[in-house]
Amino acid sequence: MVLQLQAVNLKKGKIDYLVIPVCEKSKVASLASPLKPLVEQALSMDEFKGKSGDSITFYGPAGTQAKRVAFKGLGEPDTLDREGLRSMAGSAVQSAIDKKFSQIHIAVPRIKKSPLKTVDILEAIAEGACLANHVFDTYKKKKEQKPLKKIILVVTAGDAKKFKKLAEQIETIAQGTQLARDWVSIPSNDKGPQALAKDMAARAKEAGLAVEIMDEKELKQKKFGALLAVSVGSDQKPFVVTLQHRVAKAKKTVLLVGKGITFDSGGLNLKTGPGMASMKMDMAGAAAVAATLLTAARLKPDVNLIGVMPLVENMPSGKAIRPGDIITSFEGKTIEIGNTDAEGRLILADAMAWAVKRFKPDFTVDMATLTGACVVALGERIAGVFTPDDELADMLTRAGDKTHERCWRLPLPDDYKEFMKSDLADIKNLSSVPHAGATTAALFLSEFVGDTRWAHIDIAGTAFVKNGTDYCPAGGSGYGVRLLMEMLQELQ
Ligand code: BES
Ligand code: ZN
Ligand code: ZN
Repeated sequence: MVLQLQAVNLKKGKIDYLVIPVCEKSKVASLASPLKPLVEQALSMDEFKGKSGDSITFYGPAGTQAKRVAFKGLGEPDTLDREGLRSMAGSAVQSAIDKKFSQIHIAVPRIKKSPLKTVDILEAIAEGACLANHVFDTYKKKKEQKPLKKIILVVTAGDAKKFKKLAEQIETIAQGTQLARDWVSIPSNDKGPQALAKDMAARAKEAGLAVEIMDEKELKQKKFGALLAVSVGSDQKPFVVTLQHRVAKAKKTVLLVGKGITFDSGGLNLKTGPGMASMKMDMAGAAAVAATLLTAARLKPDVNLIGVMPLVENMPSGKAIRPGDIITSFEGKTIEIGNTDAEGRLILADAMAWAVKRFKPDFTVDMATLTGACVVALGERIAGVFTPDDELADMLTRAGDKTHERCWRLPLPDDYKEFMKSDLADIKNLSSVPHAGATTAALFLSEFVGDTRWAHIDIAGTAFVKNGTDYCPAGGSGYGVRLLMEMLQELQ
């Protein structure tokens, strides 16, 4: 494990890079207290007041063997939250990577006047540090940055023992998030449906999950008409991967379904250049679901968990579906194609209808980069949640608040279904009105989930990070893995 909890003597320990978090307007009451004079010296500098984002580094300071001591501001203790700690730890790790260090020591502070308990503080720092310790350089000839080999959180000997399991769990979930990030960041020429299905299956087998792959022939036999209508325009064949974490005597069965469009050109309703530029990320839902299953395989939550990933490429060609075409879905409803760029709902409709029928879950959550409208409504940092079920909405919103993978419930009004009516078919994949696009997309999905309890999370905004953040470099964000793992933990 890269993450370690250790009781290190800050005065005598041989340390390359020591990070000491400091709160604004607060006496230092932390594990850093042996270095109190140093902390006071830092706070006496004009450029460092302990404000969030403040940072100052001392080289070879007296009173410690540490070569470098960096003080990082956390702001005022009473307003400090988990996210502030994650950001602090994440930026510390990223700066250590930039400086080509191989390890970092971060002192876990005890913060008086903070509503956060020691376990919360430790958890958040560990998360931020592990999530930031990631470099995606597969496509660089020169590998200039290397993740740290060790992240040592400096704690008391008692806490090192008490929280060992927790630290392992946090690192495992961060690894799951990083895998989801990588899958999203890989370019579409290296992750067609087949390549991605193979990669997911190989990792899942190794992790001990039950794996099933349906190929085009089987999908045709099973009449996945809506999914096949999307894939027919591409030279690459579609696949549906199903992963299962089975637990004997588990009380609940949870179904997760993730949109896996490995590239969304829009089809014949071709996207514009800028609109298409980041569409390798249109499989982020599938990436999050598969990575959650792999994480569950290691952490073994006490629930039956099923992940279904429909993997399809959406391309224009002489064989592609046209606006006006009418297709028959797995569920039996006919669908008029209003727009070939509204393809996510088509593959999800079939994948969900099939999986709900086969697995009869207690509830279903689908995750999808489904609509630009959701990005307009909520921006790039908050996902939309759509569900008729108040309990599911609360559960996801709470998990989102804790992990900072934020979710906001948007409405799913029955009367808006009339906008999805078709004159000729049972339903249309395009709304007749230009607004509420995220809601009408969700309403379309609701027609294909039978009577299972169901929630849909639209991650079109949150799946991809354009400019890196404190604990997530630019590229896939891995959004959803921490959220879903938190949700599963709450179920137990
Ligand atoms: N994959 C896109 C949604 C999307 C947009 C994801 C921006 C991430 C960022 C989806 O398949 C799509 O094209 N949706 C259309 C639906 C419309 C044609 C009804 C959209 O949002 O414009
Ligand atoms: Zn599309
Ligand atoms: Zn799409």
